[in-house]
Amino acid sequence: MAPKLIAGNWKMNGTRASLAEARAIAAASPAGGGGVARLICPPFTLIAAMAEVVQGAALGVGGQNCHARSSGAHTGDVSAEMLADAGASHVILGHSERRADHGETDANVAAKAEAALRAGLVPIICVGETLAQREAGAALSIVCGQIAASLPNACEGRAFVVANEHDWAIGTGRTHTPAQNGDENRAIRAALLERFGKQAEAAPILYGGSMKPTNAREILAVPNVDGGLVGGASLTAADFLAICDAAG
Ligand code: PGA
Repeated sequence: MAPKLIAGNWKMNGTRASLAEARAIAAASPAGGGGVARLICPPFTLIAAMAEVVQGAALGVGGQNCHARSSGAHTGDVSAEMLADAGASHVILGHSERRADHGETDANVAAKAEAALRAGLVPIICVGETLAQREAGAALSIVCGQIAASLPNACEGRAFVVANEHDWAIGTGRTHTPAQNGDENRAIRAALLERFGKQAEAAPILYGGSMKPTNAREILAVPNVDGGLVGGASLTAADFLAICDAAG
């Protein structure tokens, strides 16, 4: 069985003092990962330092966003090539907070994912419905529409990850029921298989939204839930490692 992927998203949290958490996670991660692939995505400012701290350990480092172009006059932006140069292996793209705060569209996300692949990064492409969309019974069609429009054709034959995160569950303590996760992720898998063929069997589909040590085991036991995109609970080594234990 493929290892579950537990990806921590530190969002806009962390200073150099927080590298102690990454050091503790790295020290407690068994060689080879022990059946769990582990990743922390800190803010840009910590990527290079964190990559150094975790060097040689079974813990990867990723970015939380990138620009679609490799360089140029784009003040304040960071390219996928720069992330790779700093030591990142993955990049989160199209998180609901970026779609909401920065107006990122599916087309923007697809262009960024293409850039990530060009730079040799694994894109973690986020999809997910709002509470209003869920209550209107539109969750599945929204998510499948995002899958169609946010994943570039360049994903074909390449490693990529989909994170199915529910903005009403992010940071709220509310989670999907396991049955809801199973239904949605099965539909995502079917959409991926239809578009990319058999290769898509290997694409991890993560759950995102208030995953904690207390609920991770139940969430991760559902077929087609191949890991978690973890926000708040990834900020301390103790909680992140407890979730990794639940995934192992
Ligand atoms: P949370 O964030 O775990 O803090 O709810 C998850 C996410 O942003 O996907």
